Order: sequence, then C-alpha cells, then structure tokens
Amino acid sequence: MTSNRRTFAIISHPDAGKTTLTEKLLLQGGAIHLAGEVKARGQARRARSDWMKIEQQRGISVTSSVMTFERDGVTFNLLDTPGHEDFSEDTYRTLTAVDSAIMVIDAAKGIEPQTRKLFEVCRLRSVPIITFVNKVDREGRPVFELLDEVADMLALDVSPQGYPVGMGGMFQGVLDFATGSVSRPEGPSKEFLGRRDENAELPEDLAEEIELARAGYPEFDIEAYRNGDLTPVYFGSALKNFGVSELIDAIARFAPPPRPQPSDEGPISPERDEVTGFIFKVQANMDPQHRDRIAFMRMVSGTFKRGMKLTPSGSGKPIAVHSPILFFAQDREIADTAEAGDIIGIPNHGTLRVGDTLSEKNAVRFTGLPNFAPEILRRVQLKDPTKTKQLRKALDDLSEEGVIQVFYPEFGAQWIVGVVGQLQLEVLVSRLSAEYKVEAGLEASPFATARWLKGPQAALDSFAEFNRANLARDRDGDMVFMAKSPWDVGYQQEKNPELTFSAIKER
Ligand code: G4P
Repeated sequence: MTSNRRTFAIISHPDAGKTTLTEKLLLQGGAIHLAGEVKARGQARRARSDWMKIEQQRGISVTSSVMTFERDGVTFNLLDTPGHEDFSEDTYRTLTAVDSAIMVIDAAKGIEPQTRKLFEVCRLRSVPIITFVNKVDREGRPVFELLDEVADMLALDVSPQGYPVGMGGMFQGVLDFATGSVSRPEGPSKEFLGRRDENAELPEDLAEEIELARAGYPEFDIEAYRNGDLTPVYFGSALKNFGVSELIDAIARFAPPPRPQPSDEGPISPERDEVTGFIFKVQANMDPQHRDRIAFMRMVSGTFKRGMKLTPSGSGKPIAVHSPILFFAQDREIADTAEAGDIIGIPNHGTLRVGDTLSEKNAVRFTGLPNFAPEILRRVQLKDPTKTKQLRKALDDLSEEGVIQVFYPEFGAQWIVGVVGQLQLEVLVSRLSAEYKVEAGLEASPFATARWLKGPQAALDSFAEFNRANLARDRDGDMVFMAKSPWDVGYQQEKNPELTFSAIKER
C-alpha cells in the first residue's frame, strides 16, 4: 500500500516568500485553513498571555502550525516553521516531523544564512529537498549562477525542471521542461491566470541557454532526490502564481510518502499495525486561565481512532485521547481517524513533552529528536527566595515545552538556562511572571556554551572528579559540560579522547 500522505515543510530565509507561497499552495489545494492561527484570530485573542504580546510587537510568528490540504486524491500536511532565527530550535524540531522540504530562495539573493542553517538540519536527517527559486518576476541573478550556488554551497546535485523566460522587466513567463509549455503573465497585474503556450517560440539566445542548462546539469533521478543527494529546481513567482502548481505536482509525484522513523529498535515502518508517534512540539494554550497545552504528534504508524488509549514514554501512564485535533478543511476538526504522516493535536495538562513517544504498547522509543547546544546561557536570579519550588517547576515545565533548556549545576545553587536566541529569554521572563507568578531576573553566567558528555563510565567519573565546577545535569539528568569558551571545548576534547562532547543531543 502506498500512502497518499505528503508531510513537508518550507525552509527559507526571512523575506524569501515563504508566507506568500504557503498561501498560494493552500489556495490551489482548495482548502484554506491556517491551524494555530485560527485560534489566535478567534476569541482566544483577548486572553493572550504576555509572551504572545512580544510576538505581536515584534511582528513575528512564534507558534508553528499545521496546514492540511488535498489535491487530486493526495493529502498534503504542511508544517509551518517559524522563520525568525531566534526560534531555530523549534524550527529544527519541526523538521524532524516531516518527510521532505521545499527550499525557497529569492532569485536576487541566492542562498542566505538561515536557508543554509535549515538545510544543514535537513541533511542531518537526509530529508529530500525540492528547490523553488522565487521572485523571477523581478530582476534576479543569472540562472546559471543561482544553480551553481546551490550546487556549490550545499554540495548537492541540481536538476533544473524549468526556466524563467526573462526576469524583471523582461519577464515573459516560465518554461516547464516536463510539458514544454510556457506559463504566461496576463492582465494588468501580470499574473499567471492559466494561460499556457504549448511549443512557444523562444528568443534564440535564450533557447541556446536553456539547451545548455538541460545538457549541463544532471537529469532528475528520483532515488538521488529521495536520498537527499539531488534537488530538482523549479522557478516561479509565488506572488504572481507562477510555478506553484508545478511545485504541488512535484511534491505529489516525487516527494516521499511517510518514511520509517528511527527508534531504539531500528526504523519503524509506517506499515506497522500498532499506532505509534512522537511529540515534536508543545504549544501552551493561549488562554492563561487554563494551563492546557496542545502536544503535536507526528503519526509514524497505525491508524489512530478517537478515544484510543496511548501511552506516553515520559509518564508511562496510558491516556485516552478523546478530543484530538486534526488540522483540516475550513476549521480545526476533531480527529476521528489519522494515519501515518498525519499530525494530531492532543490537549493535555503538561503530561506530554517534546520528544515523547506515544504508542499503544509502550515498547518503542523514537530517537533523533535533537536538542541543540544553547549559544546563550544565563543564571536565573530569583527576586523572592521563598519561590524556589515554583521556579523549579516553571523551569522544568518550560524546558519540557522546549522554550528553554535548563541546567542544574553539580556545584552551587544557581540554575542556568540556555537558549539559542535572545528573544527566548524575554519570553521566559514574561511567562515566569504571567503564568507562574515568579519574578526572576537573568544575569550573566560564566559559561559560553554547553556540551553533552558521553563515554565509558570510568572516563566520565574521572572527568567529573577534576571538573566538578563545570558540570551540570539537564532536565533528564544527563551530564553536561559547561564550557567557558569554544576553545575550552576543544581543549577538553583533546585531553579526553575517550569522551565525546556533543553539541546536539538526540533524544
Ligand atoms: P517570508 O514569509 O519568507 O518572510 O516572505 P513573504 O512571503 O512575507 O514575502 C516577503 C516579501 O516578498 C513580501 O513583500 C512579498 O509580497 C514579496 N514576495 C513574495 N513572493 C514574491 C514574488 O514572487 N515576487 C515578488 N515580486 N515579490 C514577492 P513585502 O513588500 O515585504 O510585503 P507586502 O507589503 O507585500 O505584504
């Protein structure tokens, strides 16, 4: 049985056109529904907690959402990744829940830093990538230069699947290699409204250039694409609707259906009968009166039915999932069934945490949901010392949610929080105050970064003996080396070749 599910994300640098493309994909898919956002626009808006205000002030989207649409019998699950670089950790985790990605690049800018960072995460998990070169209705860089940049910077084979017929003022449409037709701009807005010229005459110099492009780059090879070694490249304009339907077709035809997921007993196939899945994101309810959360579960196998009992690996206590949320059609719908590749939202009171496996038999554990070494570390300074217990609870909760990472030093009483981006610190302080009534400040810590330690027990013990002042435990009790500088990490690694100092923790 081949699944008709395609679960994917869009990766890009801010401003490349991800939002515009998302809207166009949903329009073409027929169903416009922005989960996550629906809630924010509804009555819950009035009750937003403070951290949501930060989000509003900054004009960024902190919460990722799930959008489901259908076309020609294929169900697409598009997971939105927050574009702001401060939230990269959340974004990374979302990428663990997809089977493929679309990389959007701006034709005038090429590969930008955030695109590259996100690409590296995709590569870590061999997530196949389709490239969409956007904004060809504007003046952009020469096509060959763009193709070569993707190939060189990302060390990927590139296989163009079409070609812009001019750009900017000279823009006359986009040639599709598969059909040989050119989609043409129409009307005052010069949009693509459905006119395609078959066997269109092209200016001679352009025809030659296109011949060179077709001969000079590898042909599309689905195996190479699915292994993450080759990316098909489409050209278009999200704003003017060029290349969008070609892109959807490419996802439907080439992008992989739900893939087996790594676990402690080896890859778990989507064909397995048992319902299994993992939590890749937890979103606190926007209503501060209720401490409810929605845990987003990526279904790995089985057919989920409403009311089913699933056991989270964290608590080990089965829960009956009575009101799961499916992100579908015009509104959030209560899910009756869901299958491998789908995302369901499970309301809970904090029992489910990021990285948890949920399953019927409570036997498998999915691995590979990464934590990233924080680049910013702060000591938490409690203003009212009688609130230590509340603070610990809050830090544990928020780290379970993935907002921060928390480190409890072996020596000394001051807890340390770690984040990948500055904005997370503001979110932390305001949520501590709004939701836990804990007033806390953050002060400089002597540490610059953290590394998870692994190795033979004897080597760990002897390292611990001499470096107690630099050791901490994370929320899972795993040992972490708190480094004063990146140099410190290198130095210790050299001195302790038996140990690994890892910047990524795979759960
Ligand atoms: P993002 O989510 O990746 O950050 O990008 P977004 O879609 O918001 O697009 C960023 C800007 O680029 C927007 O313009 C958008 O209209 C424009 N844009 C997106 N796709 C295309 C395209 O294919 N061609 C052209 N010419 N422009 C495109 P803005 O002026 O920043 O915002 P707005 O005032 O238009 O909303």
